[in-house]
Amino acid sequence: MDKHIDPLFKAKVEELLSQMTLEEKVGQLVLENAFAPINWHEVLQQQKLADERGEPFKIPLEINPVTSEHIRAGRVSAINSADPLLNNRLQQAAVEESRLHIPLLVGHDVIHGFRTVFPIPLAESCTWNPELLERASHAAAVEAACMGINWIFAPMVDIARDPRWGRVAEGAGEDPFLGAEMARARVRGFQSGNLPMGRRISACPKHYVGYGAAEAGRDYNSVELSERTLRDVYLPPFQAAFDNGAQSTMSAFNEISGIPGTCNSFLLRTVLRDEWGWNGVVVSDFNAIGELVQHGVAKDLRDAARLSILAGVDIDMESGAYTKHLAQLVEDGAVPLTILDEAVRRVLCLKFGLGLFENPYVDETLSEKYILAPEFRSLALDVARQSMVLLKNDKNVLPLQAQDQRIALIGPLANNRADLLGTWAVTGQASDVETVFDGFRHYVQGNLLNCVPGCSVSGDDPLDISAAVAAAQDSDIVVLVIGESAGMSGEAHSRAHLGLPGRQQELVNALAATGKPLVTVLMCGRPLVVPALVEKSAALLIGWHAGIRAGQAVADILFGAENPSGKLTVSWPRAEGQIPVYYAHKLTGRPAEGTGTTQYHEPFRSTYLDEPNAPLFSFGEGMSYSEYEYSNLQVLTPFVSPKETLQVGVVIKNTSSRAGVEIVQLYIRDLVASVTRPVKELKGFQRVHLEAGEKREIRFEIPVNTLGFHGLENRYLVETGEFKVWIGSDSTHGLDGIFTVRDILHS
Ligand code: NOJ
Repeated sequence: MDKHIDPLFKAKVEELLSQMTLEEKVGQLVLENAFAPINWHEVLQQQKLADERGEPFKIPLEINPVTSEHIRAGRVSAINSADPLLNNRLQQAAVEESRLHIPLLVGHDVIHGFRTVFPIPLAESCTWNPELLERASHAAAVEAACMGINWIFAPMVDIARDPRWGRVAEGAGEDPFLGAEMARARVRGFQSGNLPMGRRISACPKHYVGYGAAEAGRDYNSVELSERTLRDVYLPPFQAAFDNGAQSTMSAFNEISGIPGTCNSFLLRTVLRDEWGWNGVVVSDFNAIGELVQHGVAKDLRDAARLSILAGVDIDMESGAYTKHLAQLVEDGAVPLTILDEAVRRVLCLKFGLGLFENPYVDETLSEKYILAPEFRSLALDVARQSMVLLKNDKNVLPLQAQDQRIALIGPLANNRADLLGTWAVTGQASDVETVFDGFRHYVQGNLLNCVPGCSVSGDDPLDISAAVAAAQDSDIVVLVIGESAGMSGEAHSRAHLGLPGRQQELVNALAATGKPLVTVLMCGRPLVVPALVEKSAALLIGWHAGIRAGQAVADILFGAENPSGKLTVSWPRAEGQIPVYYAHKLTGRPAEGTGTTQYHEPFRSTYLDEPNAPLFSFGEGMSYSEYEYSNLQVLTPFVSPKETLQVGVVIKNTSSRAGVEIVQLYIRDLVASVTRPVKELKGFQRVHLEAGEKREIRFEIPVNTLGFHGLENRYLVETGEFKVWIGSDSTHGLDGIFTVRDILHS
């Protein structure tokens, strides 16, 4: 018996397993496409037309009769589907028409909401509000559960330090500590009880692991990572997700140092099972088993199946490798039956844990009650408001005065719905989205508001710049809503040039030449490289792709009904050549700020000749309409052991006349260690609400055993010696102090 199986289901799992044929066992390890082929080109055209008409659109899906047949024959364990009717029919084939009546896992990509589309996850992380994201994930789970979904392929917990990578949109940014906090919150949100009709959902943190470190930011590209960086930076969000009950994970497409994630037994067995004792299910990413042949580590599909099952991939997502070859591999003795049984046990255990044997069907009318429920829509507005990041506000041009200003609302995203949904909003509807123009109409009378697109997001379409310039000249202020379309980020959508796409910079230049103040709202799926835009803008709000309530949220912030509080969770480079640029970099032997080492009369330092090292905007940055003053940092525990808690206090005062929320951040640096350490590492944060003029002491209590790293032997340890600690408003500012750790902690 597998030592990892949950004792609760042990007897049931064993009983079922004892009845299974070899083919039925293999069947439990197969995720198959449930739908008949459709003409995607035609469907996407129809969807575009529906979006333009502001009408909802349903993809016309039909069950693939072959899959139904496979389900009845016990050859399929899981599908990827979001249609309650079809899901019930397929569950029926599994539960009532197959020999052993084993229900299906019904998976789906619910990445930032189901029908109530929240901001893209990168934006959500800029709230620094795990409790809010837990609620948002729960709302997504409720809507998904109404569809008969019991398995969510999220959260995406890949650390990403390269904005060229289109999937930076799907995660929580560049930092492992913040990433772990967000991973925990999302798993709790997806998996917490009280889903409609007792349904349950399993989260699937992905993509295990290192996918975000793709060389040159090109999706699926090779990854070269040391074991130390893997353990210090890329694994912690996964570990946090598993510690919070995630019962599945998805093996990544990429290789790490020559070994693809989908046949990597070090990652899938040594780390997951032996070190962490985790007993969940590993599903491959889509066709990732088949792609081992392209990687050049498997000579054919049979070989790929062998490598993957031996390495520890339990479910084959859509490559057909297990269906075609696994039974024979077992019969030939190339794969021990014990390995197959171990994988089947894990899958059955997950199905029992989800209550699918007792409760396989979904009430098809549930969606009427829950989809786009008013409380979910208002949650989406809260998340959108908190996710937006104000990065510039010269002369307090914001908030705008609603009554007496004539406003030119310009840009291709000003009255746009579909793009505001962002990437991976597969079940979202453009018709649900409030545009920025809609939002503005709540504040500005029609005769004071003029909305002109100016140009399209991308391409070389004929420009409407003269109309935009005329509108600007006829106004007191210009609000520019520009950026990327939804399709410019996400899977397989990397970009080499991160400036404004299309002819938008031309539009910006023409508007700036009018001399009217420019308030820019940038809607995008990644950090862009836009120094010229920033320079020409009087104010800059990063609105991201913020989901169905984006327009209202932008208007609430620009008109001051909401005081912005979001802070960046990923650095914004000044130039593509700086990438990867992130706050937790190492010092090097010749730091940029030091005196350097002189040779040939020249001080040599780690710098560029043509750009500073620092990004344009750093991790943690973000302004509000209030101002906060930090004082009196006190290290209350100047000497601590790894078993103790570091306590640091600081006083914060809201020096403005507006109440606001400040995200207070604590960073440390281990000053001398056996291996080099980052210049700063986030170890704590708090969202602090302060009334106008309010002054308060904030206390951080940080367990010292969280201040370690993987040392010379790649084992986790907290070393003795001095540490610096900062508390401040972002990763570049803060008051500092010193503390000393006195005993070593070894893992
Ligand atoms: C491929 C993507 O990499 C993954 O994130 C997603 O969950 C699967 N496809 C299933 O749609």
